[in-house]
Amino acid sequence: MQSTAVPSITLNDQTLLPILGFGTYKLNGVAGVASIVSAIRSGYRLIDSAFKYENEGAVGEAVRQCGVSREQLFITSKIPGLRHSYNEALYSIEESLYRAGLDYYDHYLIHWPNPSQDLYVEAWQALIEARKRGLVRSIGVCNFLPVHLQKLIDETGVSPSLNQIELHPYFPQQEQREWHQRYGIVTQSWSPLGRANEIFDEPAIKSAAQKHGKTIAQVILRWHVQLGAVPLPKSTSAERQIENLSIFDFELSVEDMDSISALGRPDGRRKDQNPAYYEEY
Ligand code: A2P
Repeated sequence: MQSTAVPSITLNDQTLLPILGFGTYKLNGVAGVASIVSAIRSGYRLIDSAFKYENEGAVGEAVRQCGVSREQLFITSKIPGLRHSYNEALYSIEESLYRAGLDYYDHYLIHWPNPSQDLYVEAWQALIEARKRGLVRSIGVCNFLPVHLQKLIDETGVSPSLNQIELHPYFPQQEQREWHQRYGIVTQSWSPLGRANEIFDEPAIKSAAQKHGKTIAQVILRWHVQLGAVPLPKSTSAERQIENLSIFDFELSVEDMDSISALGRPDGRRKDQNPAYYEEY
């Protein structure tokens, strides 16, 4: 079994989080289980799932098949927009544990704030309760803008341990990341490779890759880690899973970092998923 160790950081609730994880969006069923097992055997310990991905069952099955003990793994799922009211959020977490066949999740997150619905504080209160009951170890959010984060903190006094947001070289989210840092919230990156599209042709990234003898994907993932963000690359291929893990033996220079961040643009989101108005249920 080839394995690459991923370092961890300590979250604001003292939970240890690996600084790189495995995304599972669209990894479903038998093939999904096989991809997740292969990722865990390659060295991934943080596995990111969601009610909306319809693969909590596949993640649970992979946990049982992988041969790595449960305590070494860090499993995440997320509350969907349809279950933000307090009672529904709590039983949604309980059902999510049944689906995965797990006793607890390491992380549970609110998937989208859905501001027009305006129930995310209730969902947050349910997560606080779920943590008290031992159903989840650490609680956080995804796609929350500072205004949403501030409301959670003001109304409950409890800060999320992290915020998972869209982040890649076309959308580096500097201000949002700085806000997180001020409040002790870790930034996690979804779509860290920008889904491996035009970004892979960018000369700034290509030249850094050439200079360091690394691939484009490795340079992009290393850029996330050096920004202090936790990327969640997804790959169905065992080779690319290992490639994406092998980023802890080189360092990008300040110039490399700046030239990659300079690819950012205000409308850099892959789709028009601005949490100020974009909602998912
Ligand atoms: P595949 O599953 O065939 O490897 P993101 O993590 O930004 O959402 O991107 C996911 C996409 O990136 C998937 O289509 C995945 O394809 C592709 N991908 C993942 N790792 C690599 C890599 N190292 N090189 C090229 N493409 C990759």
